[in-house]
Amino acid sequence: MTNKQTLRAGVLGCGEIGKRGHIPGFQAAGIEVVAVCDTNLARAQSVAKEMHVARAYGDYKELLADPDIDVVSVGLPNFLHAPVTIAALEAGKHVLCEKPFATSTALAEEMIAAAKRTGKMLSINQHLRFEGTARAIHDAVAEGRFGRVYLTDARMIRSAGIPGYGSWFTNKDMAGAGSLYDIGVHMLDLAMFMLGFPKVAAVRGMLSSALGEQKIGLGGWGIDRGTAGRFDVDDTAIAHISLADGGAIRLIVTWAAFGASEERVTLFGTRGGADRSPDKYGRDTPLRFYQEHNGAMETVIPDTSRYPGAGTSASIASFIAAIRGESALVVRPEEALQTTRILELIQQSAVSGHEMAA
Ligand SMILES: NC(=O)c1ccc[n+]([C@@H]2O[C@H](COP(=O)([O-])OP(=O)(O)OC[C@H]3O[C@@H](n4cnc5c(N)ncnc54)[C@H](O)[C@@H]3O)[C@@H](O)[C@H]2O)c1
Repeated sequence: MTNKQTLRAGVLGCGEIGKRGHIPGFQAAGIEVVAVCDTNLARAQSVAKEMHVARAYGDYKELLADPDIDVVSVGLPNFLHAPVTIAALEAGKHVLCEKPFATSTALAEEMIAAAKRTGKMLSINQHLRFEGTARAIHDAVAEGRFGRVYLTDARMIRSAGIPGYGSWFTNKDMAGAGSLYDIGVHMLDLAMFMLGFPKVAAVRGMLSSALGEQKIGLGGWGIDRGTAGRFDVDDTAIAHISLADGGAIRLIVTWAAFGASEERVTLFGTRGGADRSPDKYGRDTPLRFYQEHNGAMETVIPDTSRYPGAGTSASIASFIAAIRGESALVVRPEEALQTTRILELIQQSAVSGHEMAA
């Protein structure tokens, strides 16, 4: 077990998530961030100065060679997740990798093999799992409160949310996919987590890029923004995921759409259901449970106060606790492997036009 006082972090990537999520997340967990790294060295130096980090590197290999560092976060463009995570594990660091875990099932398997080989802890920043609403639904499903859940509808509609148009986000070679990997992975992971990672039987997917190609729906996210660069990824992803128990997950995500923005997960079961919708019910009490009571349909606003914490800070705190052996790992790489496989099948189905067996 690692000594609580000596666990120190390095942050790879000083873009949006590195600066806004990882550095403050480690610091809030009481972990000193001793170094940051970005190929844009001026960016790394400026972030280090602003956020009280001692060292700034321009090459991730330099940071990985730093013996003071026990744990690293990987907040880099998607195509770098696998090679940098594997190199970090080989360098003896615990790794919190950003989502999407990997751009292929084969790479995800290599990452897991590297963690096993090195004995280091590997997790993924699927921080939506740490929201009280997600944990309340997860526990209610596990307790059988809704009976058999036969349909889970997960959607994140952004009407104008194409990040960093012309940056790595919209370049297929660097991103792997667009909305599917950026927000689809969040909603898929959330639905699978709520259901307890059920076995998947088959996947049908559809990808579209109609608005992005017209430069409609540009959003604010992404540190390296432009208007002239490459756009060859999806801005919309839809999937029907058939589960081995006869149920299904329906996934709809968009970066850009002629419609209102919405983030929602709805579960329909044989004895009850749940609806997590900040847009419909408000951010203070975004969750409803539906259940039968004396022959009538009853609506309950569940108390989620027993699930404190949310976001990347909660995700990092939980990862640190797992490294210290204080609690079990919440986001397990084997689960991320399963979602990676589903995302791959969605892409294959979108190309072939056929349902893909899992
Ligand atoms: N969990 C979440 O909710 C969440 C939110 C945002 C981003 N992310 C993920 O984090 C990752 C980064 O996203 P972002 O929004 O911070 O992107 P970004 O473009 O803002 O930042 C990426 C940074 O990486 C740097 N970089 C590129 N290649 C590098 C290399 N070889 N070595 C070191 N630095 C390099 C860039 O210069 C840039 O500063 C993506 O995989 C994204 O999906 C996750």
